Amino acid sequence: MKPLSELAQSLPRSGIREVMDLARQMDEVIMLAVGEPSFNTPGHIIEAAAEAARAGTTKYTPNAGLPGIRSAVAERYSKKFGRQVMPAEVLVTAGAVNALAAIVAAIAEEGDEILIPDPGWPNYVSMIELARAVPVRYPLRAEEGYRPDIAAMASRITPRTKAIVINNPSNPTGAVFSSETVQALVDLARKHDLWLISDEVYEDLVYEGSHVPAARFDPDRVITVSGVSKSYAMTGWRIGWAITNPELVALCGKIQEAIVSCPSAVSQAAAEAAVRGPQDAVEEMRLAYQRRRDLVREILGPAGLLPAIPEGAFYAMVDLRPAGIPSRDLSRMLLEEERVAAAPGSTFGDEAEGMVRISLATADDDLAEGCRRIIHFAERHGALPKVAEPAGVSV
Ligand SMILES: Cc1ncc(COP(=O)(O)O)c(C=O)c1O
Repeated sequence: MKPLSELAQSLPRSGIREVMDLARQMDEVIMLAVGEPSFNTPGHIIEAAAEAARAGTTKYTPNAGLPGIRSAVAERYSKKFGRQVMPAEVLVTAGAVNALAAIVAAIAEEGDEILIPDPGWPNYVSMIELARAVPVRYPLRAEEGYRPDIAAMASRITPRTKAIVINNPSNPTGAVFSSETVQALVDLARKHDLWLISDEVYEDLVYEGSHVPAARFDPDRVITVSGVSKSYAMTGWRIGWAITNPELVALCGKIQEAIVSCPSAVSQAAAEAAVRGPQDAVEEMRLAYQRRRDLVREILGPAGLLPAIPEGAFYAMVDLRPAGIPSRDLSRMLLEEERVAAAPGSTFGDEAEGMVRISLATADDDLAEGCRRIIHFAERHGALPKVAEPAGVSV
């Protein structure tokens, strides 16, 4: 038999999956490793999907999505961006991950470089490598409240750089960028004539300040990516979108033809109901995550284990660097010794080595108990620093 693709085989395996596989073999584990809402999809969205299925929305759809969801998304972002967004500027995809991968495939030649955050969502690496492009990490340092360092980013730009990926609010750091920071990122992209791919999937989950869409500053250069997974607890429905110029939308549609043809028809109907319908559930879920963020801050903050207080998304980095133990070992040991499953920091990049990421998408009691166990672990392994509670990450 001929060998399998070397490129595919060399893609990194997610450190989160490794922890999950191990955790599944144990009893009474507190699961803080998964990045998935802990709520069910709101009832009115499920009803809309059932109705659409009965009415025959069960067929292939256009590659870039059904007119209903495209215009619902266009209307929503017209308000957010302060300009009229046309449905032709909306690409509907099988989750935001599919939007990001289609865009990378549409803009990158082999060997092109794309800047990605470190720490950042691991899937950026694999989707860029699959397109035979090169991910180049730029640092988001705990010591700087996970603010982007524009000079450090600029120093990584070469003639091969094609795009910058930003993620606001951020997985895994929970940082939310101020208007000035977003403007500076757009200016950097403009100065070097790069695409700015702005992953805003956590746009509705903000606890301090407000989310500023990058596209407000440059509608042509910024490609906005988001979806229904996080805002509406709809991860399994697999609907996301990108907002960019109609030419790039059409090109991505052509790429979709080869990969998924189109996103699921019934899920598109559900997503349209989510976007057009009442938004109370989004606010209820946001408040629940905020309450859990506060809980984590109260427990881990005084112990000096939070390098920054999350302002958005539903994650917190836990700094165990004083223990001098590599992240993957930390995750395994936490699981074996304390029955707490947390994602190894290094899976998000070198900047998070020696840390773990916990998810706030867990019931309050479990989360509080998980945090207490992490403190026991930190005490035992000399990971408690001699510092007070950190300042917020306002940028
Ligand atoms: C930063 C970030 N971007 C994109 C996604 C993908 O979301 P979707 O479910 O829409 O594919 C995730 C999911 O965890 C994420 O954390």
